[in-house]
Amino acid sequence: MREVLLSAVGLTKRFGGLAAVNDVSIDLLRNHIHAVIGPNGAGKSTLTNLLSGDLPLTSGTVTLGDLDVTGWSPDKISGQGLGRSYQKTNIFLPFTVWENIRLAAQSREPFAAQWFKRAASFSSINTRAERALELAGLQHRRSSIAGTISHGEQRQLEIAMTLATEPQVVLLDEPLAGMGAVEAERMVELLKSIKKNHGILLVEHDMDAVFTLADRLTVMVNGQVIASGTPAEIRADAGVQAAYLGEEHS
Ligand SMILES: Nc1ncnc2c1ncn2[C@@H]1O[C@H](COP(=O)(O)OP(=O)(O)O)[C@@H](O)[C@H]1O
Ligand SMILES: [Mg+2]
Repeated sequence: MREVLLSAVGLTKRFGGLAAVNDVSIDLLRNHIHAVIGPNGAGKSTLTNLLSGDLPLTSGTVTLGDLDVTGWSPDKISGQGLGRSYQKTNIFLPFTVWENIRLAAQSREPFAAQWFKRAASFSSINTRAERALELAGLQHRRSSIAGTISHGEQRQLEIAMTLATEPQVVLLDEPLAGMGAVEAERMVELLKSIKKNHGILLVEHDMDAVFTLADRLTVMVNGQVIASGTPAEIRADAGVQAAYLGEEHS
């Protein structure tokens, strides 16, 4: 069953004379991981920022579920079921793992609920946070200070914080960055497990992970999509081989 959770059409972002993202269209489906790959400066992070509302579009439209969210603020888009992690970490290092996840869960609660439905919202926040802690496999780190856990666990914590907002769509910008082989393996397993029920956009340089995880791939170079298709189609694409998937990545 093909259920489109997010549909972006003709996205363009100009910084002065530079088209960092140039007429890019992408669909994210439930239970699918859509990877976006390409060399540094291709426009992958900018694309992520356009989808999340962190950057305003020059042109194009973004539809989330059946709502046109083009031009909405990041907060409103997040409230509509889009969660994201950042290329740079967003964690409060002096707080515990649990506190970080709980704060993220709380950020999802409507303002009014915090004042008028204190008790009820308290339990729903804890439930959401608990689910996210488990899904990310961090139960054993619940009481650890975030600044003291490993780099890989911090990235897992980031994912848990994203999941605590109960998103339908999850945007991940280089979740494996800076990881050793063991940590990367654990993250790949985590991403496999959260694929269920979510639509995931995965920006990632680790080609082993990308080809293990992705159901579809989009290849960007200089702001433009040069190829889009299944992993097998992308592997076989001569243009992609030439532009990006050289010996170093194969
Ligand atoms: N805020 C910005 N202002 C001006 N140029 C930017 C800005 N953000 C990104 N760029 C430029 O847009 C291009 C795409 O960047 P980015 O989306 O970060 O690429 P990637 O994530 O694929 O490495 C690069 O040339 C970068 O220098
Ligand atoms: Mg980037």
